[in-house]
Amino acid sequence: MANVLVAYYSRSGNTEAMARHVATGAKSAGATVEVKQVSDVSMEDLLAADAVVLGSPTYYGTMAAGVKDLLDRSVELHGQLEGKVGGAFASAGGVGGGQQTTIVAMLQALLVHGMVLQGDPSGDHYGPVAVGKPDDRSAEQCRRWGERLAALAQRLHL
Ligand SMILES: Cc1cc2nc3c(=O)[nH]c(=O)nc-3n(C[C@H](O)[C@H](O)[C@H](O)COP(=O)(O)O)c2cc1C
Repeated sequence: MANVLVAYYSRSGNTEAMARHVATGAKSAGATVEVKQVSDVSMEDLLAADAVVLGSPTYYGTMAAGVKDLLDRSVELHGQLEGKVGGAFASAGGVGGGQQTTIVAMLQALLVHGMVLQGDPSGDHYGPVAVGKPDDRSAEQCRRWGERLAALAQRLHL
């Protein structure tokens, strides 16, 4: 069974709600899932995970500082996260509010760690996005994406 870590920052609950939907999807693929605020994520948590997914609100077109702080702390593990599955999701205040630039900023860091990423040709291409609180469409994208990501982790790590 693959271990999926969902690490998120959320000030007003929107990204947290996405994290819960992602976790539901990952569990439906048979993975063990931990959902944690980024400030509570330890380096041991990152090492133990087969898949690490990051969730952030969009702050001025990019990730919130708390998510960047986790990434910066993870330099301690540089080279040790290679081959894990990675992914990212984001909320923003408006349509075209920068969700995808925020996701790509997080994915860039995960690539530097040597992680394996998977896009989606039919759903939200770079990772799930929401406008504010996830509506039914976004919730479904989160679950679909969580399931796909966990299935990839199971294939690579079991
Ligand atoms: C400091 C700050 C910067 C923000 N920058 C943007 C932005 O560039 N574009 C946007 O659409 N929304 C922006 N927002 C709105 C948040 O991305 C949005 O409300 C999000 O859903 C909040 O997620 P949360 O409930 O998980 O904290 C910003 C909010 C804050 C507090």
